[in-house]
Amino acid sequence: SKRHTITLLPGDGIGPEVISVARNVLNLAASIEGIEFKYQELPVGGAALDLTGVPLPEETLLAAKQSDAVLLGAIGGYKWDKNEKHLKPETGLLKLREGLKVFANLRPATVLPQLVDASTLKREVAEGVDLMVVRELTGGIYFGKPRGFGTNENGEEIGFNTEVYAAYEIDRIARVAFETARKRKGKLCSVDKANVLEASMFWRKRIMAIALEYPDVELSHMYVDNAAMQLVRDPKQFDTIVTNNIFGDILSDEASMITGSIGMLPSASLGESGPGLFEPIHGSAPDIAGQDKANPLATILSAAMLLKYGLGEENAAKRIEAAVLDTLNKGFRTGDIYSAGTKLVGCKEMGEEVLKSVDSLVLSP
Ligand code: NAD
Ligand code: IPM
Ligand code: MN
Repeated sequence: SKRHTITLLPGDGIGPEVISVARNVLNLAASIEGIEFKYQELPVGGAALDLTGVPLPEETLLAAKQSDAVLLGAIGGYKWDKNEKHLKPETGLLKLREGLKVFANLRPATVLPQLVDASTLKREVAEGVDLMVVRELTGGIYFGKPRGFGTNENGEEIGFNTEVYAAYEIDRIARVAFETARKRKGKLCSVDKANVLEASMFWRKRIMAIALEYPDVELSHMYVDNAAMQLVRDPKQFDTIVTNNIFGDILSDEASMITGSIGMLPSASLGESGPGLFEPIHGSAPDIAGQDKANPLATILSAAMLLKYGLGEENAAKRIEAAVLDTLNKGFRTGDIYSAGTKLVGCKEMGEEVLKSVDSLVLSP
């Protein structure tokens, strides 16, 4: 049987709750497929700050780098919100993405038939939505220099950041996006702010240059403000979206709500080589942490992405995806996706139900 080393990074808030559930599901699906996992659990974010004084201990990054895939819960919380920049949980996550060189963040937003009623959009608008946001993850304004605090020419205090993209950074995310679109419906929409920002003008120029390699993919461009509007007006017009780090952050949260809840959206962050990083797109949800209310499905589906994109274990991934659908078909819902006539469960119970489905489902070959 095959062996893989998985790094688990539970993090903060609901992170440990959703990771413990997802780990069990991952484990069962893998063992049915004859895959063996070795787990190593390490601290990141606020948990790491409390334990070691830094949000990404060297040990954690090293363990992650040396493993086959990384599954992360979420980081952040009120307790550390006023910390200096380098001592913020969020800085730990950014250093992890940078350290693993996972520049391509895939965030699929699919409206499942079972959850159409959980969407805040009308049935006819939400039904059938199936889009993929390809977010650039290790560049742009999140990492650009100069950045910091200072004073302007009038002696007033300022804070500043820089949106900057080099050609190679755009070219490589463009190729991932074109390849992704090619395997989907062959439509790619590049979202930018090229009417105002030089970094976006350059982004568009490079996207158009790389497009020459993909004549079979239908490329369009859209300004980000319009894209935010179009996502709620007619989300079905989108197949694959490619965009920069910050626009991708915002648009994927928006897209998640079309599907019913941010608690449903998984993600895969991939580099040119080395382990991928898999995490739900949501945060540590401090408002519901410790109450067994979190929806674990985004993390469970991230575990499925880990199997598929991280390890090439498609069958085990399909098993998890099918089990999630089966659990929803049986009517189980956490609070965030609850609607009349369904069964309200907590995080743990949802996990147990998914486990039952993983165990009992017979997949057709
Ligand atoms: P959030 O995603 O944590 O929460 C936003 C809202 O969605 C909250 O009402 C929360 O209860 C709800 N929610 C989120 N996940 C849910 C789930 N699985 N099930 C049910 N409801 C869920 O965003 P926020 O409140 O803006 O940020 C909280 C903290 O998380 C901050 O410290 C932020 O920096 C951090 N954060 C971390 C990540 C990450 O680790 N990747 C992502 C986003 C935010
Ligand atoms: C996300 C989060 C992170 C981001 C924060 C916590 C650094 O919002 O994963 O979407 O902005 O990338
Ligand atoms: Mn985000």
